Amino acid sequence: MGRVSGKVAFVTGAARGQGRSHALLLAEEGADIIAVDICEQTEFANYPLATADDLAETVALVEKLDRRIIARTADVRDRAALVSVVADGIAELGRLDIVVANAGLCPLGADLPAAAFLETVEVDLVGVINTISAALPHLGAGASIIATGSVASLVVGHTDSPTNGPGGAGYAHAKRAIVPLVRDLALALAPEMIRVNAVHPTNCDTGMLQSEPMYRLFRPDLEAPTREDAESAFASLQAMPNVPYISPREVSNAVLFLASDESRYVTGLQLKVDAGATLKQPNLS
Ligand SMILES: NC(=O)c1ccc[n+]([C@@H]2O[C@H](COP(=O)([O-])OP(=O)(O)OC[C@H]3O[C@@H](n4cnc5c(N)ncnc54)[C@H](O)[C@@H]3O)[C@@H](O)[C@H]2O)c1
Repeated sequence: MGRVSGKVAFVTGAARGQGRSHALLLAEEGADIIAVDICEQTEFANYPLATADDLAETVALVEKLDRRIIARTADVRDRAALVSVVADGIAELGRLDIVVANAGLCPLGADLPAAAFLETVEVDLVGVINTISAALPHLGAGASIIATGSVASLVVGHTDSPTNGPGGAGYAHAKRAIVPLVRDLALALAPEMIRVNAVHPTNCDTGMLQSEPMYRLFRPDLEAPTREDAESAFASLQAMPNVPYISPREVSNAVLFLASDESRYVTGLQLKVDAGATLKQPNLS
């Protein structure tokens, strides 16, 4: 028996990175998966988002584990699309127990227009609300909702420093808003025995971190920093030494705990998976 055997999990941003990792670990532990990803660029995304091939790869990897998966291309800003994906998934898989609102966008750069602020908030905050909203009518006692925040939600002067432009400010705004959203929704849903928690990762080794705008955030002293230039600076965020980033699996381990019945009385938790990053910074936690 796996730790989430017999459950069905809805994971957004599942084509690659942390979302794929969450889908795979939950599947390894016995869950079937409903997966969505945008699989195209948004207007202000200035680094590559996932592709349809990436989502197909997630499907193949879950099926290799002998679990079922329903995968669709959908934008978390489009609530009606999410409602339809969840309906399709439940028609096929029979139930819904776990929601992992993980999809995210972080377009950094002072050259982006102010509208990048709103696009980022629409994906990273409204997208989380849309995801939960699409799932909620199908959730019952024992269900678990997990939202992905960020170290950026708990510290000041990181993505929201002026050099990171309106997308960075929007990212910090949206991720900060995950904290009270999770706390207040956890209280509202407690009478129904539905739990709501957040994971807050530090630098994580995915396409979002390994991108030119992020290299510039960590190496503002260089005009065109490379991955190699950024690696040493990545480690400066964490309190634990020589940790430039964590792997997606480290975050998935936290998601698995929060998804499983092992955490049946854990709700409203802001679970930092951050190698001490927030302990080091002026922080809001
Ligand atoms: N990588 C990091 O260092 C880091 C740190 C803290 C928090 N996070 C958060 O972790 C989550 C996962 O990001 P990741 O690190 O795996 O990066 P990633 O870029 O690899 O994954 C994000 C996924 O979300 C998808 N996506 C983006 N906009 C979407 C939309 N509108 N609708 C549906 N899907 C959309 C992308 O296509 C991509 O597959 C995000 O919420 C991110 O903000 C990342």
